[in-house]
Amino acid sequence: MSLLRPLKIGALEFTNNLVLAPMAGVTDLPFRELCREMGAGMTVSEMVASNPRLRASKKSRQRIQHSKEPQPICVQIVGNDPQQMADAARYNVAMGAALIDINMGCPAKKVYRKQAGSALLGNEPLVQSILETVVRSVEVPVTLKIRTGISPDQRNAVRIAKIAQDSGIQALAVHGRTRTDKFKGGAEYRTIRNVCQSVDIPVLANGDIDTPRKAKQVLELTDADGLMIGRAAQGYPWIFREIAHYFQYGRTAPILNTNEIHSILIRHIKALHVFYGETSGVRIARKHINWYLKTKNYGVIRIKEINCLNSASEQLEALGNVLNVAVDPNNYNRRSLHDNNLFLISHHRDTENKESTL
Ligand SMILES: Cc1cc2nc3c(=O)[nH]c(=O)nc-3n(C[C@H](O)[C@H](O)[C@H](O)COP(=O)(O)O)c2cc1C
Repeated sequence: MSLLRPLKIGALEFTNNLVLAPMAGVTDLPFRELCREMGAGMTVSEMVASNPRLRASKKSRQRIQHSKEPQPICVQIVGNDPQQMADAARYNVAMGAALIDINMGCPAKKVYRKQAGSALLGNEPLVQSILETVVRSVEVPVTLKIRTGISPDQRNAVRIAKIAQDSGIQALAVHGRTRTDKFKGGAEYRTIRNVCQSVDIPVLANGDIDTPRKAKQVLELTDADGLMIGRAAQGYPWIFREIAHYFQYGRTAPILNTNEIHSILIRHIKALHVFYGETSGVRIARKHINWYLKTKNYGVIRIKEINCLNSASEQLEALGNVLNVAVDPNNYNRRSLHDNNLFLISHHRDTENKESTL
């Protein structure tokens, strides 16, 4: 069977089994739309707090905007109170979500302190109560995202996966690290394989997948139904297209043409300006620009220069200078492209160098 295949979660069918991981502060609406266009079969929103008092905050309102977002829309909720989580699920379905994902994987201090995210993995009865209550509360499929366990000597992902399946969860994403690992060390895939062998619901393998070859290795090693990709997509959203190509044809995709790279970057930055408004949009765009331009060719100084600018037009213009293209906020034209081949080649080389053996 082809490694690239449709992903079925309950009654929902996604075009392929390559999924953009939820990342707070990163996977906003502009980035999700871009990744879908670049070949991701499914994207998941940034986590949304289940506490209703936080619903009116600007951050929460932005996180639940789905205008024009390709269907099916998947929203991740976070919390630790079963009833509040169920209410949040219902609320997000009313706001347009076709799938609710529950976060039990986030190790961030502010989430962990509230006994939510990955902290829940240490309380299996509460996990069961949350999952059963949320599943009962909505008609749409509910999925769960977890880590492999609490700590390297307490990897309880298989038990959690069975609880999830018995509670009516329709798919599971497993990040190959434990809660105490945070992001240290390499992802471990054996536990993900054990999870895949223990349940019948679709399982997505997640952690450190950053090249098409690594994607193939992880899928074959874990026997998962699909892959979830997070940090590698930052500044490299076309990774989904590249993995899809590699899975379909068994060889790496031709390098994206320079026009495409430029238009992806500029379009992304403009979309952030529009989505967040100029002040926040320019600030949020900085980290994306850093990710896109992290190759040596552009140098720290030029990136730092861009990061000092506070207006949308200055940011776009400076970006145009670095990329050697003319960019104006309303109309984007190429001036010269030949220098940018360096960017492309070195970006590819960087990612291929990241290949590691498992
Ligand atoms: C900046 C950042 C924000 C994240 N936010 C979330 C989140 O909101 N919900 C969640 O379940 N996981 C979150 N994660 C974890 C990712 O979804 C993913 O599991 C992790 O990054 C490992 O995958 P990767 O190696 O492909 O990045 C976040 C990770 C990062 C780096």
